[in-house]
This record gives sequence, C-alpha cells and structure tokens, in this order.
Amino acid sequence: MPDQPSKTVIISGGTTGMGRAVALERLARGDHVTVIGSNEARGRALLDHAADPNLRFLRADLSSIAEVERVIADISEQHQAIDALALFANRISPEYKETQDGLEFTFALYYLSRYLLGHRLRPLLDAAPDPVIINVAGVGSTAGKIFWDDPQLARRYGQVRAQLQAGRANDLLGVAFAGQAESKVRYILYHPGFTRSGADGHPNPLIRNTIRLLARFFARPVADAVRPIVEWIDQPPESALSAIDRGKPVDMSLKTLDPDDAARLAAYTRDLLRSRSR
Ligand SMILES: NC(=O)c1ccc[n+]([C@@H]2O[C@H](COP(=O)([O-])OP(=O)(O)OC[C@H]3O[C@@H](n4cnc5c(N)ncnc54)[C@H](OP(=O)(O)O)[C@@H]3O)[C@@H](O)[C@H]2O)c1
Repeated sequence: MPDQPSKTVIISGGTTGMGRAVALERLARGDHVTVIGSNEARGRALLDHAADPNLRFLRADLSSIAEVERVIADISEQHQAIDALALFANRISPEYKETQDGLEFTFALYYLSRYLLGHRLRPLLDAAPDPVIINVAGVGSTAGKIFWDDPQLARRYGQVRAQLQAGRANDLLGVAFAGQAESKVRYILYHPGFTRSGADGHPNPLIRNTIRLLARFFARPVADAVRPIVEWIDQPPESALSAIDRGKPVDMSLKTLDPDDAARLAAYTRDLLRSRSR
C-alpha cells in the first residue's frame, strides 16, 4: 500500500494464530510492528520467518501485572505514538491457576492485560492521528457472565466458565473505554468466529486434536478472520465503539454491552489494581 503512511502497531499475543497473521500482513505494508508473547522460541521463529528489521518481539508473561507494566514501559520508551493496539493474548487453563498477583489466570491474561495495555498506552494512542484498539474475543455471544460475587472464580472454577467470563469482561471493557469522552481512540470489539488457529495453545492433547479436526472442516482460514483487522488499522471506523461478530454489527442494546455493568467492572478493576499496587 504505497499511498498509506507506515503505522506503529502493537500486538499482544502475536507469536501464533491470528495475531501472527496480522503482524505479517502489517509488516508487508511497511509498518513497525511489536509482537508480545510468552514463548521465546515462537517469538524467535517469527523474527526468523519475517526477517524484517521493522519487527520487534517482546517476551512477557501477560498474566503478570508487573510483566505487563514492563512491556508498557518498554513500548513507551521506543515510541512517541501508537496507531494500533491489537489484543489477542489468551490461553485456556483447564485447572484453577493463581497468578503471582493472586488473580485467577484467565481473568489476568485474557481480560486484565487488555485493560492495562489499553489504558496505560492511551496517551501514546492519543498521540497518533487516527488511533484504534482492536480487542479480539467473542463479542455478540451472550453465553457466560461476570460472577460479581466471585470474579476470581475461587469457589466455582471451570475452564469454559473462566473463558466466557473473561470474554464478557472484554465486551464491557470496550464499552467503558469508549465511554471516556476525552480520548480519540476508536475501540473495536471483534469476534472472528471459529478460526483455524488457537488449538496448539490447548494443554490437553485429546482436546487439541479434536479442535484441530473440527477446525479442518468447520473453521475459517486465519487469513479470512484477520482481513477486517488489517483494514481497520488503515481505516478505523467513525464511531468510538464498534462491535463486530463475524462480519455483522452487534446490537448495542445487548445485555452483554450494558454501560452500567461496564462501569461496575471498571470500578472493580481500578480497586483491584489499587490494592495490588499497595
Ligand atoms: N481461534 C478461534 O476459533 C477463536 C474464536 C473466537 C475468538 N478467538 C479469540 O481470538 C484470540 C486469538 O486467538 P488465536 O486463535 O489466534 O489463538 P492463539 O493462536 O492461541 O494465540 C494466542 C496468543 O496468545 C499468546 N499468549 C498466550 N499466553 C500468553 C501469556 N501468558 N503471555 C503473553 N502472551 C500469551 C500466545 O503466544 P505465546 O505462546 O508466545 O505465549 C499466542 O500468540 C483469542 O483471544 C481467542 O479467544 C479465537
């Protein structure tokens, strides 16, 4: 795209799957891309594959608040402005796992890292002419909910429950973020649909192989799933918040996008971060 100026793009969870595909597409357009992932070997493999000086890999475990803060500090040192933040990092945890911050792992990785990256990098995003955040999760789905009496799922953990809760939390994150009138960042909640990626991250070999088999017949190719993301980076939508489920706009009056719930989750998250920083 010779007529488009090169962009600065940050991708959390970009060493495999959809994040990796977006990284390679944007590098091909001349962008400066920073990819964050926890696996050094996967990061190295991507660097070797891309062989592009415009690609940086930051190894970090984004389920840790300190690691997310370290990544934010590094990015803030490297860049004066960020055009796009694309959020993909996620991993299923079959067992209840507590992070070093005393948080449930899925909540910490799939939701809280996205909250922190979006909010803390906002000044750099606001410094770009046309900034966008793309949060790739499951908007449009009404399965699952926030367990307000036990958001860390200490009493009722299940891997599906944890994934669905964090998915709904990401829906609310988009609503709350876009409600901040003083930011020019456009927030996109994107549900890619069943895509031929992500199975490798499942720790159970039986489930991994089953997902791979199902994906071969029923899932979308990664290139199809990421096409809109690649385009939004060049041309963000007009509105502060967009929610797209497999190519279709989501009804904004859905209960899962309730502004009161979004404000409640934002307040819970702020309190939680305050208590962790003491
Ligand atoms: N695939 C689907 O059918 C589908 C459908 C709907 C929604 N989604 C959502 O789309 C997003 C991307 O999915 P995908 O299929 O592309 O998954 P994927 O290939 O498994 O990618 C997940 C990424 O997260 C990174 N990651 C995992 N744990 C991490 C940690 N502790 N710290 C930092 N990075 C970590 C992984 O990198 P490392 O291994 O290097 O850590 C990887 O790059 C996910 O949020 C998923 O829930 C997927």
